[in-house]
Amino acid sequence: MNYKFLTVLSAIILLNCTADKKNTIDSTYYTEKFRPQFHFTPEHNWMNDPNGMVYYEGEYHLFYQHYPDGNVWGPMHWGHAVSKDLIHWQHLPIALFPDSLGMIFSGSAVVDTENTSGLGSKENPAMVAIFTQHLMKDEKAGRHDFQNQSIAFSLDKGRTWKKYENNPVLKNPGKHDFRDPKVFWHESSKQWIMILAVQDHVELYGSPNLKSWKLLSEFGYKFGYHGGVWECPDLFELPIANTDNKKWVMLVSINPGAVNGGSGTQYFIGDFDGKKFTPDSKESQWIDYGKDNYAGVTWNNVPASDGRRLFLGWMSNWQYATVVPTTIWRSAMTLPRTLELIETDSGQRIASSPVKETTALRKDTASYTALLSAGEQQSREIILDSKEFEIDLPIDLEKGNESFSIELMNDNAEQLIIGFDGDANQFYIDRTKAGGQEFSKDFGGKHLGKRSFSNKNIRLKLFIDDSSVELFTDSGSLVMSELFFPEQPFTKLKLRSSKGVTANQMTLYSLKSIWRN
Ligand code: FRU
Repeated sequence: MNYKFLTVLSAIILLNCTADKKNTIDSTYYTEKFRPQFHFTPEHNWMNDPNGMVYYEGEYHLFYQHYPDGNVWGPMHWGHAVSKDLIHWQHLPIALFPDSLGMIFSGSAVVDTENTSGLGSKENPAMVAIFTQHLMKDEKAGRHDFQNQSIAFSLDKGRTWKKYENNPVLKNPGKHDFRDPKVFWHESSKQWIMILAVQDHVELYGSPNLKSWKLLSEFGYKFGYHGGVWECPDLFELPIANTDNKKWVMLVSINPGAVNGGSGTQYFIGDFDGKKFTPDSKESQWIDYGKDNYAGVTWNNVPASDGRRLFLGWMSNWQYATVVPTTIWRSAMTLPRTLELIETDSGQRIASSPVKETTALRKDTASYTALLSAGEQQSREIILDSKEFEIDLPIDLEKGNESFSIELMNDNAEQLIIGFDGDANQFYIDRTKAGGQEFSKDFGGKHLGKRSFSNKNIRLKLFIDDSSVELFTDSGSLVMSELFFPEQPFTKLKLRSSKGVTANQMTLYSLKSIWRN
């Protein structure tokens, strides 16, 4: 068999298919029931964690945990997409396939500008992916060293990949959970740093060349939350808003044991000296109080001229991810978010906000004034003529202990409530009556998010897609991302409140689909 000929032939067929598809994208593309219109989803089949997020030559790369042969978790591959604006995505062929060392679990990607690895050149640096390989047969055989770290590289902007011949580059010393390497270049210690999740802690490794790794330190025993296994860590420096200062932030996803049950992501703020992370506090905070933001990490290699720290999470929860009622795909990513640190009444916190590019999604704008005065308990009903929209809503509380809610409704008696409980100073999302939930006992319910502020002027931003809501408030220090599956789209909106709540102005933007013109 002439493999070279076959490879060229399949490349030509693939190119033609991609071109064809572009021309034939029609009005039915991405219109299945519940299909998100402005969030990333794979065309078909299963997706979990975002992987290998890296910016290179005008493109944001997004790889993701993918099972191309089914709509549930299965042998993991790295799916791949690129975007020029973080909003519109182009699907690319699968980047990494399982091999004799195992499936391709979560990991990261870097651009080896100085060619430290020797895998590319300074003129054409290699994009290097660092990921866990999970060897199922070794796990089944009762061994403990079935997760090892491997690398692969691309010399053509991520279009084709080659696995390194001496994989794995970091061998498992016999630890049952040993995965999800996030690698970045640390300029002051002039080395690559890898942060790795190891059951109930993280381990930091250093390398001059991405090929040989040395343990630098461990962090996390008895720090933060430990209701489940630690996964998908990240470590980066973040600017403190309105100052010239920066702090290091460590993200650690945990499953189960999140604030509202199941999967969630905690973070620590502290310092990192090239070897060791020292937190300011033993306590961690939640980056998102909603039930559906997991395994989120940040983009590598964003140009200094841009300077943003960009984050994306998997918008689901292992409690029910494999049984949510979507087909022909399963799972979406959150909106990409910019992270920074802010001072709150309760100390420093991460503030997440939807990336500024999101404003390009706006289609029509409607403004509503005098919705709620301090003496009223409900607003007039607002008709929603789009399933995808953004809401900007400033609210004034008289004393601070008042309550209010935003209710989305349809003619099927389904209702999604995004609310604020002034006595507890917390927000909530109640999806108890928001549609289907028979698929899991863990899905329904009212989920709480504690404020870090106590001011009486609150500003809410909501992003509603066909099956998700993302709430950003208190400058992004309080975020809640949640899924919902109503039988019919929500068509009406109403505000309710205890007395003493004023809503003078609400802006509602209908949003465009990112998948069709
Ligand atoms: C997190 C996770 C990772 C692992 C991947 C496997 O959701 O469990 O720890 O690498 O998913 O798909």
